[in-house]
Amino acid sequence: MSTAERIAHSKITKKFRTSSGQLLFARGSGGEVWDVNGAAYVDFVMGYGPVVLGHAVPEFDETVKEYLANGVMMPGYSTFHQEYLDRLLDQRPGDRGAFFKTASEAVTAAFRLAAMETGRLGVIRSGYVGWHDSQIANSLKWHEPLHSPLRGKLRYTDAMRGVGPDEPALNWVDLRIESLKALVDEHRDVLGCFVFDAYLASFTTPEVLREAVELCRSAGLLTVFDETKTGGRISPLGYAQDNAIPADLIVIGKALGNGMPISVLVGNTELLTHAENARLSGTFSKEMVTAYAALATRDILERPIGDSADGWAELGRIGTRIAEVMTYAAKDAGVADAVWAQPVLGGGMFELVYADDVLGDKERRSALLEAFAGAGILLLEGHPSFVSLAHRDLDWDKFSDQVAGAFRSWTNGSGR
Ligand SMILES: Cc1ncc(COP(=O)(O)O)c(C=O)c1O
Repeated sequence: MSTAERIAHSKITKKFRTSSGQLLFARGSGGEVWDVNGAAYVDFVMGYGPVVLGHAVPEFDETVKEYLANGVMMPGYSTFHQEYLDRLLDQRPGDRGAFFKTASEAVTAAFRLAAMETGRLGVIRSGYVGWHDSQIANSLKWHEPLHSPLRGKLRYTDAMRGVGPDEPALNWVDLRIESLKALVDEHRDVLGCFVFDAYLASFTTPEVLREAVELCRSAGLLTVFDETKTGGRISPLGYAQDNAIPADLIVIGKALGNGMPISVLVGNTELLTHAENARLSGTFSKEMVTAYAALATRDILERPIGDSADGWAELGRIGTRIAEVMTYAAKDAGVADAVWAQPVLGGGMFELVYADDVLGDKERRSALLEAFAGAGILLLEGHPSFVSLAHRDLDWDKFSDQVAGAFRSWTNGSGR
């Protein structure tokens, strides 16, 4: 089949391959996906986070289908958007939300609100906050551990607009308060916004993050918690809400619509009033399919499931178990001194952890990913992997054998 050759990939979408070549996918069901050749894979990529219930989950599909009888786009916003925000923001009575498709859009909107509010265009970033120019220009491998030799090298240094002396995009790299203070002190006159990827909360503590937000706010910056990976996955709104971190704005995305593209920028009424003058919307901001998907996703996640009080707690339990099984399988395969797995922020995500001698070795790390694909498991490395409610039905014995098999083939091959 020649279809793959027509697709312009970024490196991200090219990651999934086995020794027989690039994978092209045909369908998914529950926690699994199939490639065009009919090979099945346990999927922990989950579209890089959005698929939180599972693929083609019948209840979700049926609910969305029923909603579709109302149409997909009105002249303006619909009662479904309103209902979704009422449910999403029930713990934040004074807040409003602005709808977008992608989180990059919502973060761009946050940058614009910050510039309108402060009159200053510069930003301090910590973490991957999107692919638009000012979000990605001169950024790091943010998901690498703080001590990884791969973390620091600047990437995306060419062909980017919206960065320069009057509108710097600065990186808070080491998550030390002293370094943040130094950045703020040096560039205070041009800085309007601080944005933090909540995944990096797993590298530090809520106390440090509370201090960081207070420091930036007292220097007149608008503070944004980017909960794109975490909101709707570790809990309904994510880390800042759960840990009482007083960020001015919250961005959520990915997991809200079980794979349908929806993102929301949340903040108080006064700030979100700027949305009118700032022109924070486009043609598709008001479409209804993603509001239907977000309502249907919430209906399922709000319910108790198994021994868990709700779907978010159950996701945490599932991811924690996956990490345990993987760590045990690493011991079984004799590679536990090189690699293991750990749950991230409660377990709605998990990640591979490498010993120092593997951490800086890109080739061995890519070989591990390929060994997993060869054993029928797709996951991420150098990035957290994602679980869905459907993974509660994993055949755990088979999964454990697959993981041990992947580790063995990695250690027996050139990978180690
Ligand atoms: C924390 C964070 N912010 C923003 C984005 C950008 O989201 P999108 O790809 O929906 O534009 C991502 C995507 O991975 C993310 O993880």
